[in-house]
Amino acid sequence: MTKALRIGIAGLGTVGAGVIQILRQNGELLSARAGKEVVITAVSARDRNRDRGVSLDDLRWYDDPTALVADPDVDAVVELIGGSDGIALELTRAALVAGKPVITANKALLAHHGAELARLAEANGVTIGYEAAVAGGIPIVKALREGLAGNRIISVYGILNGTCNYILTTMRETGRDFQDVLAEAQELGYAEADPTFDIDGIDSAHKLALLAALAFGCPPDFDAVNIEGIRHVSALDIAFATEMGLRIKLLGVARKTEFGLEQWVQPAMVKIGTPISQIEGVFNAVVADGDQVDTTLHSGRGAGAGPTASAVAADIADLAREALPPVFTLPVDQLTRIPPAHMGRHQGAYYIRLMVVDRPGVLADVSALMRDHNVSIESLIQRARNPGEAVPIVLTTHETTEADMIDVLARIRALDSVLEPPRMIRIGTL
Ligand SMILES: NC(=O)c1ccc[n+]([C@@H]2O[C@H](COP(=O)([O-])OP(=O)(O)OC[C@H]3O[C@@H](n4cnc5c(N)ncnc54)[C@H](OP(=O)(O)O)[C@@H]3O)[C@@H](O)[C@H]2O)c1
Repeated sequence: MTKALRIGIAGLGTVGAGVIQILRQNGELLSARAGKEVVITAVSARDRNRDRGVSLDDLRWYDDPTALVADPDVDAVVELIGGSDGIALELTRAALVAGKPVITANKALLAHHGAELARLAEANGVTIGYEAAVAGGIPIVKALREGLAGNRIISVYGILNGTCNYILTTMRETGRDFQDVLAEAQELGYAEADPTFDIDGIDSAHKLALLAALAFGCPPDFDAVNIEGIRHVSALDIAFATEMGLRIKLLGVARKTEFGLEQWVQPAMVKIGTPISQIEGVFNAVVADGDQVDTTLHSGRGAGAGPTASAVAADIADLAREALPPVFTLPVDQLTRIPPAHMGRHQGAYYIRLMVVDRPGVLADVSALMRDHNVSIESLIQRARNPGEAVPIVLTTHETTEADMIDVLARIRALDSVLEPPRMIRIGTL
């Protein structure tokens, strides 16, 4: 074998310790497959005395992660600290400037600074591996970059956050409310103490921006992603969805349309029986539609020490083989910004729930407004009568534009029989 690839790991938490574990357990296999020995030479974290469940005895320790870069026995830096700015950004820049490649699981960093860092990598003749940053253990970066290289990608979408999928699955299975299930998920360690990034859709949006860049050859554009998390998904909507043969999932969708690039992370309904509807609990899935291959589905564990370290190890092997391409597959100057498509142009079917006063004529008023706005109703559920009280009316529409839908819902909301803002959820034709 040729000279070893020597790596320095910054960040020894869930993923960092997982990478050390995987290299201890499967390092020989990985080295044989890569055609080059892979060794860890140095590490960095905050607390030198913390027990990480793996031995660090033979590894050089740095309190300051950026000091790893200057270590002559470190050929490549593995950044597993996290955060879009601060020390992770500083370390990544320093490594690239020093001509050392970087491997990271940090989607926030690349979603916000991807284009700048890709340019820096290119200028210094190195690259960045980030298989672990998108959907953890699912090798979707490699699939888009290599396996689907002969396709024009039409859309890429998926369930990109295991915490949200676990919460939605449990809400459906138990009929419990969001807050209750979130608290349980935190106790079980499936949700962070501060769950904001996950449940507000930000983590999914980071990953989606990277998927879109890979799929469509554009720089990642996190700010162009329309984001809504799962806080407002109710047990009631989940129950109605089931009754109508639908499942609610937090989807991340990137689609090239005639109006530009549509990117959104939002709770959406998918038909029960479609492959994506069957991804439950903490699992993730990504669907890529190519013009030649048609639909491909990639599923697996999106987080956790083993699955995420598995993806980091794949990048380490590619680095050892000298097989990592430019960061977003194309050289930075060939990445082309695609203008964002306004969501008002989105065409699709919708689920609508209204809370109305139960009195004669309400349904007729709603139907008339829908008809006047060319929105046609596909199915309707009206609950048993409780005269004078609030009751739900639930309907699904045929395909229409989102602008028309928003317009008609504003008029419906203005009816004095409608007691709450209507709930609107897209139904995916996925
Ligand atoms: N956890 C997952 O399942 C998962 C999945 C996919 C991607 N990721 C990504 O992987 C990265 C790491 O996540 P994680 O879950 O492993 O995080 P974590 O458990 O919180 O670990 C973070 C590590 O970074 C170290 N650290 C923090 N600030 C530091 C500083 N200023 N200097 C040196 N070290 C510092 C910490 O040191 P101490 O241990 O000494 O405190 C800790 O070892 C993040 O970008 C995350 O988004 C995680």
